[in-house]
Amino acid sequence: MANIFTRTANGVMDWVNERAPAMMPAYRKHMTEYYAPKNFNLWYYFGSLALLVLVNQIVTGIFLTMHFKPSAAEAFSSVEYIMRDVEWGWLIRYMHSTGASMFFIVVYLHMFRGLMYGSYQKPRELVWILGMLIYLVLMAEAFMGYVLPWGQMSFWGAKVIISLFGAIPVIGNGLTEWIMGDYLPGDATLNRFFALHVIALPLVLLLLVVLHLGALHEVGSNNPDGVEIKKGPKGNRWDPNKPTDGIPFHPYYTVKDLFGVGFFLILCAFVIFFAPAFGGWFLEHDNFTEANRLVTPEHIKPVWYYTPYYAMLRVIPHKLSGVIVMFAAIAVLFLVPWLDKSPVKSHRYRGWMTKLMLGLLAVCFLWLGKIGAGPGTDPVETIIGRVLTFLYFVFFITMPLWTKFDKTKPVPQRVTMHD
Ligand code: HEM
Repeated sequence: MANIFTRTANGVMDWVNERAPAMMPAYRKHMTEYYAPKNFNLWYYFGSLALLVLVNQIVTGIFLTMHFKPSAAEAFSSVEYIMRDVEWGWLIRYMHSTGASMFFIVVYLHMFRGLMYGSYQKPRELVWILGMLIYLVLMAEAFMGYVLPWGQMSFWGAKVIISLFGAIPVIGNGLTEWIMGDYLPGDATLNRFFALHVIALPLVLLLLVVLHLGALHEVGSNNPDGVEIKKGPKGNRWDPNKPTDGIPFHPYYTVKDLFGVGFFLILCAFVIFFAPAFGGWFLEHDNFTEANRLVTPEHIKPVWYYTPYYAMLRVIPHKLSGVIVMFAAIAVLFLVPWLDKSPVKSHRYRGWMTKLMLGLLAVCFLWLGKIGAGPGTDPVETIIGRVLTFLYFVFFITMPLWTKFDKTKPVPQRVTMHD
């Protein structure tokens, strides 16, 4: 029996190879002959988890699209219909909405890993830049998705965010109207956001992810020690010409990543089945009420993954300055590969300054996120928000200094396996 299977499988493979001879070499290059450092730790799960969530969003999105009606008159009730009448519709919707928040959790951890281990440093600048482009598109994708169910927060969130463009001198008002296709978010807005959300941006996202991984596989993965395994000794039990500190991505890391997938899916299942709104953090309470242009919600605020930037916007009294600071906070991340002047990649072999500054960045980002999610009426919190915004920028603006002057320890020749 096994023989028939093997012979059939080999037959099919030979048939494909004859007709598409480039396919197997590509598979080998990126899977069995891609040698990744053998010292990956927990932080290296998030790339594959981001891929998993991307697939989940696309698959559940396709099923939602089958029942969703992209018009201001019908969108809200079509989502209710999905929740109540479509077989398993509630599950598909909650997998999609939970997936959106999980995407950002995973991507933020993935980015922080990059900062900790200096994965953006030469020769991986392009991997970082492509990652940042993914992050931008992901934010646009999630924003447009949130408008689609046409709840109160969809409508008012869209109004507030799109109106920000109105702060741009001369062209601002025209631009706002052009984006909305109306004077307020309406049918035209919903229609174009639907088109962008279900097809245009996912295509861009997929393309960017392919380029991101392509760029990574050209130079090879970094690791928690920041040691370039390609520069180390050669020869291992599979191949005399490959780095000694590398192991084949498949099967070693595919199996390791599957373990991460299992753990992650259990976490997701807990949220989906027991707390899909996650206390208003993943799905805001106001969005369970249909959009009404005559009733403003008490507090208009975006979903948690935008709140750090939203806090920066809100604590700055001048609207245009707020908008500039908010966009600068994202833009400055693109520059990290050139702001970091350290000869050492990983924080493991850097001094206290790097650790302090990374901690400071994390605290600023989380605290700003908390402030942005609040009502924004407390004057003390506004002052704290300004200080945190200032410190956020201090991290980046002074980066050339603290990365240059921070003491470094000698980096080992080979990767270490101590945690
Ligand atoms: C849809 C979103 C994303 C997906 C699917 C994705 C996927 C991946 C995968 C599979 C890897 C290799 C495994 C790993 O190192 O964890 C990786 C590496 C990397 N990614 Fe992403 N990524 C995404 C977003 C981002 C973002 C937003 C950034 C940063 C701005 C980023 C920066 C990096 C860097 C620097 C590496 C190399 C890490 C190293 O070798 O140490 N990625 N990505």
